[in-house]
Amino acid sequence: MSDVAYVICELNDIQSQRAKGFDLAILDEAGQQINFPIVIVRWGKQVFGYTNSCPHHGTRLDWEREAFLDPSGLRLMCGKHGALFELGTGRCSSGPCKGENLSPLNLQVIDGDICITGVTMVEEEDEDDEDGLVA
Ligand code: FES
Repeated sequence: MSDVAYVICELNDIQSQRAKGFDLAILDEAGQQINFPIVIVRWGKQVFGYTNSCPHHGTRLDWEREAFLDPSGLRLMCGKHGALFELGTGRCSSGPCKGENLSPLNLQVIDGDICITGVTMVEEEDEDDEDGLVA
């Protein structure tokens, strides 16, 4: 497991009491690149993050882009069948997967940035870095 902290965004890119989705790419244990959609909830200076995958059928939670919260704004909601999840634990408190959990992420706020550890992220290639190529 990687200890590298990757910056996802600035803390201020997410308003307090709001959730935002990100589509990351990471390397799996076999070194293969896989899509890794996540959702981050900000509450004041605290952040909580989960993979954007409902434990019921494995679908994304946001049935409409960036629509992650229930009308009260106090729980994450899966748009497919309406499961509700506690913001701070990811535990499903209501719905077809009651008692199951969203997969939590290791997030930290470092110097005002929301960072993820515990995964190996695929980073954008630096297009200027073509040194070493032999014609
Ligand atoms: S897929 Fe999320 S509640 Fe059914």
